[in-house]
Amino acid sequence: MSESITIPEQTLYLPIPTPVTAVRMLTKTECLITVELDPDRIEPYRPGQFFMLSLPGIGEAPISVCSPPEAYPRLQLCVRRVGKVTAHLHQLAVGSTIGIRGPMGNGVPLEQLKGQDLLIAAGGLGMVPLHALINHIVKNRADYGTVTVLYGAKEPGELLFRDELLQWGSRGDLNLHIAVNIADEDWMGHVGMITTLFQYVSVDVAKTAAVIVGPPVMYHFVMQEIRKLNLPPERIFLSLERRMKCGVGKCGHCQINEITVCQDGPVFSYDQLKTLPEAI
Ligand SMILES: Cc1cc2nc3c(=O)[nH]c(=O)nc-3n(C[C@H](O)[C@H](O)[C@H](O)COP(=O)(O)OP(=O)(O)OC[C@H]3O[C@@H](n4cnc5c(N)ncnc54)[C@H](O)[C@@H]3O)c2cc1C
Ligand code: FES
Repeated sequence: MSESITIPEQTLYLPIPTPVTAVRMLTKTECLITVELDPDRIEPYRPGQFFMLSLPGIGEAPISVCSPPEAYPRLQLCVRRVGKVTAHLHQLAVGSTIGIRGPMGNGVPLEQLKGQDLLIAAGGLGMVPLHALINHIVKNRADYGTVTVLYGAKEPGELLFRDELLQWGSRGDLNLHIAVNIADEDWMGHVGMITTLFQYVSVDVAKTAAVIVGPPVMYHFVMQEIRKLNLPPERIFLSLERRMKCGVGKCGHCQINEITVCQDGPVFSYDQLKTLPEAI
């Protein structure tokens, strides 16, 4: 489905000490960490890939690439605080060092998306890898046709990258639609599930590809809407999130039937997943 990627053996197992160059809170629970990768030891990355971030004595967590490939060797990572590792990642200061393995996984098939109209749907933290993709598209805008972005969050306070949302929304060449499930008194936008944004979508089936990233519950309902658009399954791409340990296909933690999410994915075409009801 996507271009194959060879990860150098040394970065498969060995966390590379990597300096933190910026830390910024984006919301109450998400922070944006910027690190400077060592280009001699860590390969360029692409949207949809992930890195294993480690803190000695604490643990390791898979975190998606958040910056576009053009930013390399700089890398941005957006981390939601949910447990032990992510809580410690939130305490990082500029000048500290974290261990990094990767980039892991296949990523979004950028070559297949080139020349297409794009329908991008981000649910919650799904905006993290899609932030990398959208920024890549913005930097290479002439390579793509019509671009429509649907973004759903639980509430306005959970919207990530608010400054950039404003910039994307004010560009004439990107259709951005945002929905929150529950509004607050300042919210003037759309209220409802992300699926209610499909009323604003019209696609040219002959040349549209869809990329969807969000929590498992979102896939079920978003796919119902996508099916109504009659897009071919091989042009619908979804990223699966599974519990991971090794990230390199050895431990079996991320196995779903015959697929190994960390190796074969995490990005799959719907064509690959439609016979695997356990996957989405
Ligand atoms: C490919 C991939 C990409 C990811 N990208 C990001 C990202 O960009 N930003 C980000 O904040 N998180 C991302 N995650 C999820 C992140 O890896 C987990 O939240 C993290 O490992 C939790 O570690 P912890 O020690 O803080 O929490 P733990 O103490 O391990 O768990 C705390 C809670 O989080 C849940 N949890 C743990 N791991 C996962 C997981 N993999 N998926 C869903 N829930 C989990 C547990 O069930 C528990 O409720 C990604 C996961 C995968 C597999
Ligand atoms: S995380 Fe170990 S096999 Fe995928």
